[in-house]
Amino acid sequence: HTTRRADYHPPVFLIDTVELDFRLDPAATLVRARLAFRRNTPGPMRLDGVGLTLLEASLDGTALPQERLVHGEDGSLTVEGVPDSGTLETLVRIAPQENTELSGLYTSGGNFYTQCEAEGFRRITYFPDRPDVMSRYTVTITAQRELCPVMLSNGNPGGTGHGKDGTHWVRWVDPHPKPSYLFALVAGELVTVHEPFVTKSGKQVSLNIWVRRGDEDRCGHAMDSLIRSMRWDEEVFGLEYDLDVFNIAAVSDFNMGAMENKGLNVFNTKYVLAKPETATDGDYQGIETVIAHEYFHNWTGNRVTCRDWFQLSLKEGLTVFRDQEFSADQGSRAVKRIRDVRGLRAAQFPEDAGPMAHPVRPESYIEIDNFYTPTVYQKGAEVVRLIHTRIGAAAFRRGMDLYIARCDNQAVTIEDFVSAMQEASGVDLSRFMGWYDQAGTPELTAEDRYEPESRRWVLTLRQQIPPTPGQAQKHPVPIPVAMGLLDGAGTELPTRLAGENEARPGTRLLLLEGAEQSFTFEDVPAPPTPSLLRGFSAPVKLKGVAPERLRFLAVHDTDPFVRWESGLQYATGLMLRMVEQQQRSEPLGFDAALEEAVRTTLRAAETDPAFAAEALALPGEGFVADQMEIADPAAVHAVREHLRAEIGRRCADALRATYDGLAESGEYRVDGRSIGRRALRNACLAYLVAAGDTGLASAQYGSAGNMTDRLAALSLLADAEGPAREAPLADFHARWHGDDLVLDKWFSIQAMSKRADTPAAVRALYRHPDFDLRNPNRARSLIGAFASGNPLHFHAEDGEGYRFLADAVIALDPINGSIAARLIGPLGQWRRQAPARAALMQRELRRVLDTPKLSRGTFEKASKALA
Ligand code: ARG
Ligand code: ZN
Repeated sequence: HTTRRADYHPPVFLIDTVELDFRLDPAATLVRARLAFRRNTPGPMRLDGVGLTLLEASLDGTALPQERLVHGEDGSLTVEGVPDSGTLETLVRIAPQENTELSGLYTSGGNFYTQCEAEGFRRITYFPDRPDVMSRYTVTITAQRELCPVMLSNGNPGGTGHGKDGTHWVRWVDPHPKPSYLFALVAGELVTVHEPFVTKSGKQVSLNIWVRRGDEDRCGHAMDSLIRSMRWDEEVFGLEYDLDVFNIAAVSDFNMGAMENKGLNVFNTKYVLAKPETATDGDYQGIETVIAHEYFHNWTGNRVTCRDWFQLSLKEGLTVFRDQEFSADQGSRAVKRIRDVRGLRAAQFPEDAGPMAHPVRPESYIEIDNFYTPTVYQKGAEVVRLIHTRIGAAAFRRGMDLYIARCDNQAVTIEDFVSAMQEASGVDLSRFMGWYDQAGTPELTAEDRYEPESRRWVLTLRQQIPPTPGQAQKHPVPIPVAMGLLDGAGTELPTRLAGENEARPGTRLLLLEGAEQSFTFEDVPAPPTPSLLRGFSAPVKLKGVAPERLRFLAVHDTDPFVRWESGLQYATGLMLRMVEQQQRSEPLGFDAALEEAVRTTLRAAETDPAFAAEALALPGEGFVADQMEIADPAAVHAVREHLRAEIGRRCADALRATYDGLAESGEYRVDGRSIGRRALRNACLAYLVAAGDTGLASAQYGSAGNMTDRLAALSLLADAEGPAREAPLADFHARWHGDDLVLDKWFSIQAMSKRADTPAAVRALYRHPDFDLRNPNRARSLIGAFASGNPLHFHAEDGEGYRFLADAVIALDPINGSIAARLIGPLGQWRRQAPARAALMQRELRRVLDTPKLSRGTFEKASKALA
């Protein structure tokens, strides 16, 4: 069954208040719900429900007879003959310990947790489970005191008490109306790490992070990130926290990264717990980002929410934009932008070019869970950034103020956001809706000519958006192109467009609105080199910049993003030509420009080591393969390995000097500069090991004082032979097998190894006693890391990689369909593989589709992949 955006109808009944009484028991939890309802439009009262056992139902205090309670195939409940307003009370039984989907109320390690977004609340009680029904909740939780010493829900504490039978109860009152997807309950044996916080207007807030005993010493970074996020939102957007308490609970069985439930965020432990011995710099940065993201949802998502799930990017795109800006303000803005663009290209561009391509605001879905995608999140954030770039920071802030003032406590649409931005800025943004409604990554080309007599330089920009499933024809979208001009010595020229009186220094913004447009610059002394798309001012593919220009820009541009990007594009072009040589079995040469680039980067590394680490990295195998009509993972791999070894050998002296010069001294820190230094040092290590110095990695593994350096060494040693590999892997397991998050890394590293026996090793790891398909982090650490992080072996000639993925998806689907549907993604990329591989991939997709009782989500992904 497909849900369509065009079919939106307002809810038939609104629910003003909800009283929920839980009696917690892992095998049989009782949920009593009292809903104060009020008619909104004509129609029956149909309440969503999945897997609920209805024990009692009454209307305004009178028991309802069976014949007025109609149970639907899908688990829903229709109540017949209801008045236009009243109170409906139901009592249902659910079994949290049987809930392996991790949607609704479930148990993890003996504690109770919920996940309701998008449609999990219907697994807890009968309710119009849609985001445009906003209600005030009072929640009372009762349980045995030993089983659940701690019991949490949304809002503020509203009393406690105890029963005679060893039970106690806790009440929570949330004064803010909210949709059901923001409901949360957490209960069990938990301990708290606490900090007080005072908002800028003087309100006292109690901040608490709830974890399992023993994890208290790993919450410092999360708490610190939370406090910085709260301050930042006050300073940058004027947004203050609005409850007396802010609770975060960490759980090790969780489908996603985290969830922004009002006043009670629930987090995957991966995005809370960190200490230097167990977490990498990447983990620290992930925690900062996700903590900020969920906190920022309090206004963009919770106070102002989505009318329907097609509007998901209204809250997600905007909130990702906000967390990106926050992180940019914490350290190096340029490096943050580079990382975000890297991520966009690794995940969203392929999605936009594949069978699941969909607009930022999709038109239809079978399972909404499948649309929590890089397109809705990352491209959605890029579209918000386009508006920010187009109207400027000051107008954007006025637009946010207007949006929140106008939409507070409402469930709204993307149009509401864009029109607030339009009114606040006075800029017509109607054509930006094309970015929300069209799938596919626009391709941008630039052509220029210089006219010596008139001293004019003319730049012609063209755009084209490729067709995507269901959208053959596309319209041009407005593309802001931040740009500048450099003279032959690499000096930035002031620029004057025809019609302007004065030349302007530095970066300026061009706006390409149609399919093609020319811009004439006056008074240009000599043919300049254009630097286009500075800061990646639009999520497009800029094509066809000549290699000489790329080399020049990589060294000289004033914009760090374009410097990085030009080096990347230069190397990509080179690698694509070498892939062709490899396919023809010609010897692979070496381009001296690469050695030059590495040496230049290393010489300048001291000023910004994090940037240097980014600049040193060769384009990833996936990125290079994505530029090919027909991908050739093995050839791409061979070329990249060849270049890594050559660079390592030719630049060994400089790499080694940088490596030694960056040796960790003093206390471990996680500030941007320290993280950058470690990233650069480990980038050098990787080249030196590629050139044959395995001993250096072994030494670093042995002496590392933190997980970043230890793991960097181990991931290189995982490609080695004999004891150089086996000893550290065994040591790592012996040391960390009791720590789930660290053990995940042990699985991932082996899943991503380049060694020829990796497909067999992955099968063996799947049967390892520490492997647990039911734990999403563990499933991803092996299956996801292999299928998405190891293109060489996933695309093994004999199809073993595809077979393994399909086997895993078929085994996982009845346990957790949501995770199964996510993992199947890579099989959808068959159109870009050579015919033999494509056939093998399709065969596995068909095998998945032929599995009886397939979940809706996996069915949608597999069938769309084959279509
Ligand atoms: N709203 C959450 C976040 O962005 C993600 C929840 C996703 N849930 C899901 N069932 N797909 O932080
Ligand atoms: Zn979010």
